[in-house]
Amino acid sequence: MKRTSYISELREMLALERSRGRKIALIPTMGYLHQGHLALVERAKQTGAFVVLSIFINPLQFGPNEDYANYPRDVERDAHLVEAAGVDALFHPTSEEMYPSPMVTFVEVGQLDTVLCGAKRPGHFRGVVTVVCKLFHIVQPDFAFFGQKDYQQFLIIQRMVRDLNLPIEVCPVPIVREHDGLALSSRNIFLTSEQRQQALILSQSLNEAERLWRAGERSARVLERRLREQITRESQGVIDYAEVRNAQDLSEVTNIESPVVIALAVRFGSTRLIDNKVIGVEARV
Ligand code: PAJ
Repeated sequence: MKRTSYISELREMLALERSRGRKIALIPTMGYLHQGHLALVERAKQTGAFVVLSIFINPLQFGPNEDYANYPRDVERDAHLVEAAGVDALFHPTSEEMYPSPMVTFVEVGQLDTVLCGAKRPGHFRGVVTVVCKLFHIVQPDFAFFGQKDYQQFLIIQRMVRDLNLPIEVCPVPIVREHDGLALSSRNIFLTSEQRQQALILSQSLNEAERLWRAGERSARVLERRLREQITRESQGVIDYAEVRNAQDLSEVTNIESPVVIALAVRFGSTRLIDNKVIGVEARV
């Protein structure tokens, strides 16, 4: 596996691969990798492309009171994991390499970032799409892989690619979970064992909402109320949001007639976890 922290070196490496006729696949991450990230690697490898995984904890997407300073880091461990998983190149730039001078140009996200995590974390998605846009220009991938764990992020990036005519295929990868249902996240490491147990309420309440929908419940407000009730009754988690929204554009839904995403953000102590489930996809055909 090749490894570099420098944009120029990465570009040279990729130019060579392209001249050999290889396509390029990019997997942007913030590191502290787990099986969720490795599922993206597996999908990327299936394309036959030269796979680049980036690790960069992007300061631009963290709010002033968020966990940038404490975000878990272990690049050496990550490097071993991605090498074993068959990644061709690891790109782990420093902040100085990515942001040599304070940014004055940003990619602005409209509409899609006014709800869910966008509403709760002002400026977050502007930081995400700006760094992803930079990575897209640095790597110029044919394919880019994103997990559906960050459902809103995926939609926003897919939309940026469409709006700005970037010649990149954005590929979604389903959520990877622990055996007991907890969605894998680099932040799970911050949970105490009691919080870890309580955090199961996210996937459990999503499953329960799906069960209600399968049993015929079509009211978005009823599902939201049931989610809230279950989470508050069965855990000490503090709900940031628990909402049912249109799966394609995150618009408000009253009656569930087309695919929706049920999206949750819940805090356990200072750790904020997100999870989601898309339902009603079968109803589309
Ligand atoms: P990070 O949280 O490291 O996630 C990197 C990628 O892994 C994202 O596409 C995310 O959706 C995916 N991922 C994380 N946990 C997953 C799981 N349990 N199952 C499936 N996919 C999972 O998301 C970011 O970094 C950043 O915002 C980034 C896009 C790199 C921009 O800085």
